[in-house]
Amino acid sequence: MRRTLIPVLLLVAMIAAGTGAAHDWKRDDRGVLMAIARAPAKTRAWKNPYEGQADAIAAGEKLYRQHCMECHGDDARGTRTAANLHMADVQGATPGELVWFLGNGNLANGMPSWSGLPEQRRWQIVAYIKSLR
Ligand code: HEC
Repeated sequence: MRRTLIPVLLLVAMIAAGTGAAHDWKRDDRGVLMAIARAPAKTRAWKNPYEGQADAIAAGEKLYRQHCMECHGDDARGTRTAANLHMADVQGATPGELVWFLGNGNLANGMPSWSGLPEQRRWQIVAYIKSLR
């Protein structure tokens, strides 16, 4: 029993260290993940043309299901692959920072760029994310 337990524990530790290494969980003084907060300062002032609009939120949810759910999970509550988007370290970001982040992604951490989606759709997804608060 002991003989198998130790290699298994070592393997688990190695996997945890390996996956952890790719993540950068540093946050800015608002508590927003640096991956998002490194957006250019001007993005903070960008307004979402669809903010709070029910049809845009519904469209954003549909896009979320098509493009994001496999990694971020049902209702954006996170999976083993990617984070819960309800959390304050995402919700604390402005809509402009989020739309910028979606356009750029964070490939080093496994988040693809969504610059292939028209900007209107990215704003709809942001309206959906913000509706989760
Ligand atoms: C292939 C898997 C994958 C897909 C598809 C994906 N993401 Fe991500 N996303 C990640 C990973 C991995 C991260 C970085 C670390 C984490 O969230 O655990 C990330 C990070 C994020 C973040 C920043 C929060 C953070 O924890 O770093 C947001 C916001 C986000 N994704 C939104 C989206 C949206 C919206 C879509 C769909 C347009 C999407 N993602 C599609 C894997 C994915």
